Amino acid sequence: MISQYQESLLLPGRTYQSGPVDTTYEDVLENIDSGIMLFDEEGVISFVNKQMYGMLELTRHSLVGCTISHLLSNVRLSRFKKKQVLQSYREMVYKGKSNYEFLDEYGRYWKVTLCCGEQMKGCYLFTVKEISDYKLIEQTAYQNDSLAMLGKLSASIAHEIRNPLTAIRGFIQLLHPHLQQLGKQEYGKIILAEIDRANDIIHEFLTSSKPSVPQVGMIPVSALLKEVVLLTESEALMKGCQINLHPFQEDMMISGDVKQMKQVVLNLIRNAMEAVADRADGLMGKIEVGAHREGSEVRMFISDNGKGMDIRTLDMLFSPFFTTKENGTGLGLSVSDRIIKNHGGCISVSSRVNEGTHFVISLPLIH
Ligand SMILES: Nc1ncnc2c1ncn2[C@@H]1O[C@H](COP(=O)(O)OP(=O)(O)OP(=O)(O)O)[C@@H](O)[C@H]1O
Ligand SMILES: [Mg+2]
Repeated sequence: MISQYQESLLLPGRTYQSGPVDTTYEDVLENIDSGIMLFDEEGVISFVNKQMYGMLELTRHSLVGCTISHLLSNVRLSRFKKKQVLQSYREMVYKGKSNYEFLDEYGRYWKVTLCCGEQMKGCYLFTVKEISDYKLIEQTAYQNDSLAMLGKLSASIAHEIRNPLTAIRGFIQLLHPHLQQLGKQEYGKIILAEIDRANDIIHEFLTSSKPSVPQVGMIPVSALLKEVVLLTESEALMKGCQINLHPFQEDMMISGDVKQMKQVVLNLIRNAMEAVADRADGLMGKIEVGAHREGSEVRMFISDNGKGMDIRTLDMLFSPFFTTKENGTGLGLSVSDRIIKNHGGCISVSSRVNEGTHFVISLPLIH
């Protein structure tokens, strides 16, 4: 049946009465929120409603009486729309799918449905409906689902990690007098602070299915960056790369949760260290960290001369569980992005394959 129809669709057109539609049913079809196009048994458009000719940006008069080949050769039909019509026709008439979804030139999602068979008495009815809102709900549901999964996953990991951390914490406290004798009590303090931070990160993961409310305080940008660079310097040295902290204005202050902020900068520096280590030509890895004032905002940047990213990676970057690393969890950037958004800021990125990556965290400054 479909193949007979394919033949007939390519036949020359015919004159159809295209005047105003006057029956009640046609009035309903005329005003429905979907686009409707009816092809008769010979493949000629016999009815088209307002929505449909509006979508095609053509007049009713220029459509009624046309076959699909006439429609495709209409000079007033934009190239993009021709492609969409042809693609829908191929998917539904040739491949026999009953519906087909596409994205238009304005970024809106549409669903085309084909109704044919006995009840249509040889006619073919195409309906087109915008489904952008449903797509948005679908995407949000998918993201929420991923985040809920993340919550469950972290609950089990947290349980396993917290116990050894508590043991380490206890023993370090017991070692305190010995470290004091050696004049190395600072090391003990750093270990304890880092264990507490690890516990906080676990807690953050546990609550990541619900956006957590930051513990707001004043954070000097300089102290934040200096501290994180200090923490990562030895790891960077071991990996054979250099971290340069650029000089910047000392008085810039932001408001937020200092632990969460540290976690974000640390995630970005860790990614940078991994990216320079993965660079194929063995070039000396360099990571530049700095900040500058831009109007009422601070822009903190973390740049590397690592392996860079292709478009696909850039597109997926902030999605939970997206990773290109064998041992990555793909959570670093999705958690960081959420933290910065919760603080009223944003993270932007530019990157080139084999050249490097430039991340910028923008946050409102406190005056
Ligand atoms: N500076 C960078 N250079 C190149 N690629 C990067 C950089 N930062 C992030 N990426 C890419 O983005 C992906 C996601 O990063 P993300 O930090 O979210 O997860 P991950 O590093 O893979 O795993 P983890 O959860 O351990 O952080 C990485 O796998 C990597 O492909
Ligand atoms: Mg990471």
